Amino acid sequence: MEGNTKHPQSGIGDDRIYYIGIDLGTSAVKLILIDESAAILKTVSKEYPLSFPKPNWSEQNPEDWWNAVIEGLGELTDGVDKGHVKAIGVGGQMHGLVMLDEADRVLRPAILWNDTRTGKETDWLNSVVGKEKLQALTGNIAFAGFTAPKILWVKENEPDVFAKCKKICLPKDYVNYRLTGVFATDVSDASGTLYFDVENRKWSKEMLEILGVDESQLPTVYESGDVIGCTSLLGMNAAVVAGAGDNAAAAIGTNTVSEGQCNISLGTSGTVFIPTDRYVKTANPALHSFCHANGKYHLMGCILSAASCNKWLNETVLKSDYKTGCSDMNDVFFLPYLSGERCPHNDGDAKGAFLGLTHATTREDLQRAVLEGVSFAIKDCVALCPNAIQKATVCGGGTKSKDWMQMLADVLGVEMSVIQNEGPAYGGALLAAGIAHEPAIKTTVKPDPNRTALYEKKYQKFRQLYPLLRSFYKEN
Ligand code: XUL
Repeated sequence: MEGNTKHPQSGIGDDRIYYIGIDLGTSAVKLILIDESAAILKTVSKEYPLSFPKPNWSEQNPEDWWNAVIEGLGELTDGVDKGHVKAIGVGGQMHGLVMLDEADRVLRPAILWNDTRTGKETDWLNSVVGKEKLQALTGNIAFAGFTAPKILWVKENEPDVFAKCKKICLPKDYVNYRLTGVFATDVSDASGTLYFDVENRKWSKEMLEILGVDESQLPTVYESGDVIGCTSLLGMNAAVVAGAGDNAAAAIGTNTVSEGQCNISLGTSGTVFIPTDRYVKTANPALHSFCHANGKYHLMGCILSAASCNKWLNETVLKSDYKTGCSDMNDVFFLPYLSGERCPHNDGDAKGAFLGLTHATTREDLQRAVLEGVSFAIKDCVALCPNAIQKATVCGGGTKSKDWMQMLADVLGVEMSVIQNEGPAYGGALLAAGIAHEPAIKTTVKPDPNRTALYEKKYQKFRQLYPLLRSFYKEN
């Protein structure tokens, strides 16, 4: 589909035109149907398994994604004239490594963004290739979750797989490939590979040489709103746009597109997303410098476990239905490093921990400590941003908890607008429609200055904990 990057015109006679957004998440795929006024008509969600076969490993089967997408699309378009679906945009979990053989068969389970098995390869990239060179070539340093160290891991540990690999792509690009037969990616998702030259929006030839990857194994790069092909699945005749990494898609969904704005996403991961007009070389490379889906750039801090910590406490530990309320402020601390940590520590071996427990500690105290710990980790990311954040939008599953939204506003000391839609799927649909739209706000939460002052004291104590525990986990 070389050169076919013009967006199709919507609006035929009086017929209603539809657009579909897909968010290929870590726990589920979420699909959304909108009309040409960007009104949300229907949403569908389909879960799939996530496996942790070994410590630090996190994998999914791309066939499960595809089956969930087909099932979800069927349900989403049930009762809709499929011929009126004009375009589809997919946003997806970033950094995942999908490898295909010459017959386009998936060679091994996808290695996901929160998989931290690549400590050795990440260290090699950062120390032997060197952080400075990596930053000059790609805009970023190596993190265990990025795609490049995973390629090195497969090369070293599964040479047969590496030898058979003819195509390397990201999770949402696999879905787009199955939808269209076109092997494509977009600039925002490609940014998280560490073999993409973010500033110049193209693959980095030097990085590909370092990794031993040939550019012919990689998808063609498009801007996020470019049409890459079309799909006739389920009787549709819909254009498919290149789409975006889920955080850039969420930023489109929350209309976080200009300097001075900030979007916080609380899903399985937690992210702080700051749009920038130009490429920024970060002073602290714990912050990612990536392409945005709107033709510009952004900075981002990412923590590996956000709403997933709450899910872990309630479902795995307490086996409750999330109705447990929080206690008031207390001296219990929680380190949310259940999958290691990306920003700011870049430490795949970091572990979660409760500290400060006594006989008087209740489950409500633990609940509060978990939500606070994640909020403090988000504050760690915010603290690295070049300019102070004045206010933020918040999206993602974590926004369902009112207590948490107030706590986050208090911890950060900023006003937060909680977005009605979940972000990435809506952003995907807007990219497909080629329109920008102000999202509906569910509620606005103002920080309480007294609590912000108290939380600042508790945050300073929280910051002391990881350095105290780091060597313990490295040595044990
Ligand atoms: C971003 C990141 C996560 C995933 C989650 O760098 O790793 O937010 O994209 O889906």
